[in-house]
Amino acid sequence: MIYRPFGKTDVKVSRLGFGCMRFPLTDENNPAKIDEPKATELLHYAIDSGINLLDNAWPYHREMSEKFVGKTLKDGYREKVYVSTKLPVWLIKEKGNSRKYFNEQLKRLQTDTFDLYLLHALGKTSWKIVKEFDVLAFLDEVKAAGKIRYPGFSFHDELPLFKEIVDAYPWAFCLIHLNYVDDDFQAGIEGLEYAHNKGLAVMVMEPLRGGKLANNVPSEILEIIKESGRKQTPAEFALRFLYNRPEVRCVLSGMSTVEQVQQNIEFTSKEHVNTLSAKELSLYARAKEIYKSRIKVNCTQCGYCMPCSQKIPISFILGMYNDAYMYEAIEDSRWMYRVFVKPENRADKCTACSECEEKCPQKISIAEHLKKAHKVLSEDKV
Ligand SMILES: NC(=O)c1ccc[n+]([C@@H]2O[C@H](COP(=O)([O-])OP(=O)(O)OC[C@H]3O[C@@H](n4cnc5c(N)ncnc54)[C@H](OP(=O)(O)O)[C@@H]3O)[C@@H](O)[C@H]2O)c1
Repeated sequence: MIYRPFGKTDVKVSRLGFGCMRFPLTDENNPAKIDEPKATELLHYAIDSGINLLDNAWPYHREMSEKFVGKTLKDGYREKVYVSTKLPVWLIKEKGNSRKYFNEQLKRLQTDTFDLYLLHALGKTSWKIVKEFDVLAFLDEVKAAGKIRYPGFSFHDELPLFKEIVDAYPWAFCLIHLNYVDDDFQAGIEGLEYAHNKGLAVMVMEPLRGGKLANNVPSEILEIIKESGRKQTPAEFALRFLYNRPEVRCVLSGMSTVEQVQQNIEFTSKEHVNTLSAKELSLYARAKEIYKSRIKVNCTQCGYCMPCSQKIPISFILGMYNDAYMYEAIEDSRWMYRVFVKPENRADKCTACSECEEKCPQKISIAEHLKKAHKVLSEDKV
């Protein structure tokens, strides 16, 4: 395993971190049902093999992930890892709420200190909450009390806001969505460089696009990977793109089998910084173009369409609809729709009021696309 200095901090983190939101399940339709024996084996194997960062969050596995990880970090395992979790900013309705969730998280994870603590999924709405309820002052307070070592944030919005947030607080690190298809999405490569140059350690989430860049990869993409002349799996092709960048301090992957952990650790045990040639970089650009050419709706997930009067998570649904075609992953998207969108908020509840369409910078016919998305995602014939 390769370890990297973590920004300006005094710790070194493994270049591969363990994302705790994709543990094996005993019931595939219920993320709360973690298969504890299998997941414990997975986690202990990862730690024994050198992974020293576990990334968690309040909502993962319907709030069961933190509790489960707390239970597994016995017998010296807690001391071998940096424990990271995130404040569910969207749940904060008044000032005292940050402390309430924070204390509950300490209990769930059975620890006195979080090594890394993030404000979860910052974007336009949650950043307003942070300001309104003095959440940054709360971070200062728990840091001064020694209850967190390093404050950070994860991000899901557009680049200008990312830069504003980077500059607003002495963060130790941030967590951004990045992979070779999404190199200009949200913070993107420009955000990676910006945060790195400001001294933040940058961690990456969704390096394999939740598995879509690794499994059932279309034949055209496999052909491109072959052209690299390297013997590599699609997962390695995707990870290599990130490990090539010196600014990426840690790549989090939500691995769900021991084989995936083994493969990713083996790959991460070699040095890949600045090893991609110009020809290889052009292969990533071509692969990205192929994926992008399959998009159904030109939604950039900026979130300007929200809130919806019917509480339909518009950009989340359009994202799943696009993913179904981009990655030939209709069953995956259907599973997400079934498990993560309540029946009363599904796309068929759209009243075509057009409020969202007036706010959409891309001028998308949202009502029409929601109708189509519902048909595809609710298991009608495609
Ligand atoms: N803060 C936030 O807002 C936020 C949002 C998203 C994620 N995150 C964090 O970032 C972590 C990483 O994101 P992610 O889980 O989406 O990571 P990812 O690496 O993009 O996706 C993980 C999935 O990739 C597949 N996979 C992994 N290694 C593989 C291999 N060697 N060969 C084949 N398939 C492989 C598996 O899919 P299958 O199970 O289908 O095989 C696995 O479940 C999360 O777990 C979470 O901790 C944070």
